[in-house]
Amino acid sequence: MARYAYVNGQYVDHRTANVHIEDRGYQLADGVYEVVGVRDGRPIDEGPHIDRLDRSLGELRIGWPLSRATLGFILRELMRRNRLRDGLIYMQVTRGVARRDHAFPTGPVKPAIVITTKNSKRGEADPGPGVAVKSLPDIRWGRCDIKTVALLPNVLAKQAARESGAYEAWLIDAQGCVTEGASTNAWIVTRNDELITRQTDHGILAGITRQSLKKLSDSLQLKFIERPFSLAEAKQAKEAFISSATSFVTPVVKIDGEVVGDGKPGAIARRLREEYVRFASGGEAVT
Ligand code: PDD
Repeated sequence: MARYAYVNGQYVDHRTANVHIEDRGYQLADGVYEVVGVRDGRPIDEGPHIDRLDRSLGELRIGWPLSRATLGFILRELMRRNRLRDGLIYMQVTRGVARRDHAFPTGPVKPAIVITTKNSKRGEADPGPGVAVKSLPDIRWGRCDIKTVALLPNVLAKQAARESGAYEAWLIDAQGCVTEGASTNAWIVTRNDELITRQTDHGILAGITRQSLKKLSDSLQLKFIERPFSLAEAKQAKEAFISSATSFVTPVVKIDGEVVGDGKPGAIARRLREEYVRFASGGEAVT
């Protein structure tokens, strides 16, 4: 259990940490977040995650609550205090505290920041047996590229998946194509060993892991293609997998109860996971 949280300028006891009841994140989901994986005491892809936080804040016209350099310092201090080796850092910035009104506050309101950490088992290079996914309609809004804390459709989809015995939900758009998972990006591998994942636009989150996998696939000389793929195509694919800061590369072996490929993690997903784990282990050390 993490001992400290960082809340608006202070390191506080995680068990009793709190925010104001009129925080706009709490009342209106008016805020953004980031999840950064941590391996061997090192944040994975820290720079790109902070860049995406900056972009999300900019899209919602929420200011930075502190400088980028200060944020980097706080992340390290919190990791040190919580003795975080493997797990994740969660950071959330909301528009701040104001009397409830849908429109932005007119007076000077300082954005509110909360940072927590979570320890978890170290992700192995071996992916294990793979996971099942369940398809559900994508009922989210038109700006899924912004990493906002407004996650209710994702929460409901994930819950429906779990209740059906699946690990992740795959969200399906009006054209019958897979957009992404409830908290992961979605990928397939074709019979010709092409890596397919949906293009980034307002319809999905541009995953940082997805971006790193794109680079790794280039160095492995795998053909990386960004295009929509249908649920039917996914079910016929040679392989499928999901990616995120916390799941790395996790093979998908069943979609809606139908076996993908031979029902075992595919060779390409395994290789990408191995490479990703190697990459994740090579970041800048936190002392
Ligand atoms: N989720 N798509 C969605 C909807 C996500 O919420 C996430 C991340 C991703 C993958 O992005 P990245 O590779 O940058 O983690 C894609 C985080 C882990 C979460 O909400 O916990």
